[in-house]
Amino acid sequence: MKNFSAGSFPTTRLRRLRKSAWMREMVAQNSVKASDLILPLFVIEGKKIEEKIEHLPDASRLSIDLIVKKAKEARDLGIPAIMLFPAIDQSLKTLEGEEAWNEKNLICRTIREIKKNVPEIGVICDVALDPYTSHGHDGIVDDNGYVINDTTIAALCKQALAQAEAGCDIVAPSDMMDGRVAVIRDALDDAGFVDVAIMSYSAKYASSFYGPFRHAVGSASNLKKSQGTQDKKTYQMDFRNTDEAMREIALDVEEGADLIIVKPGMPYLDVISQAAQNFAIPIIAYQVSGEYAMLKHAAAKGVFDFDAAFLESLMAFKRAGATSIISYGALEIAKKL
Ligand code: PBG
Repeated sequence: MKNFSAGSFPTTRLRRLRKSAWMREMVAQNSVKASDLILPLFVIEGKKIEEKIEHLPDASRLSIDLIVKKAKEARDLGIPAIMLFPAIDQSLKTLEGEEAWNEKNLICRTIREIKKNVPEIGVICDVALDPYTSHGHDGIVDDNGYVINDTTIAALCKQALAQAEAGCDIVAPSDMMDGRVAVIRDALDDAGFVDVAIMSYSAKYASSFYGPFRHAVGSASNLKKSQGTQDKKTYQMDFRNTDEAMREIALDVEEGADLIIVKPGMPYLDVISQAAQNFAIPIIAYQVSGEYAMLKHAAAKGVFDFDAAFLESLMAFKRAGATSIISYGALEIAKKL
């Protein structure tokens, strides 16, 4: 335990340690480095295509050739890994999301191209069906639109295997089904992918802050048309709870997760901090699309300087105890660090 007794004024003057830039630099407790960051990227079909994403300023959907370029840029700046999300054609989306485990799907082709051209960077892929289902849910639904747990986790295993087969280094189940980490670990091991790691979205809340992401992968409009619930509250966590987050993490650790994600990030710093205090496992904070958009929009209105506010937001994750941070601004800030 630390001892916070500080003496008393006038002997003690805490401003001494803040007086000059070099002094502040010398005593700084936390830092953000490029190696702390993970860059999420959205992939689309085509060549040389860059599509602006409505609601997510300064982020784009990119064709595979441009994703490879971004991966090189990230590698050169010292960013250790990228995270891939597909925006596939609506015509490929089905009730059960079968395209998710097609070995030639957009994501698998992207993984192969990155592994061929930029082998030094880590590739992380989301495991969940929402970019592939016609209803926009993360899993397979029954007649009432309720996501069926055990049928879904069997499908997620096929998806994870297709990604591992293509060369993915880390699979990241983001679906919040019960028991999925254990079955994915088993499936990977049985197929010989003992070194493919699992980064589990363990504490993932049902959040409004995913809005821009759902536009980016095209699940927003599908969710709106879906016959069941249009939110994800029957599987993602209730934002009134923290104990539940610790139970989710404990289960995932038990089931074999190698790293765990807390998501969203900024409004959930308490959860990150509790996770870091309770679990000896790398904790990854996900600064989600809505958080990034808020910062961008506020800066565009002149509320504050983007770089300064953004760096401050990243430092909060480090202070809370996060090991790494997934952020749409990873590349732009890495250039300035
Ligand atoms: C898919 C998934 C989502 C995000 C990451 N993976 C959206 C959702 O659960 O609806 C959100 C990321 C972001 O908002 O930046 N399950």
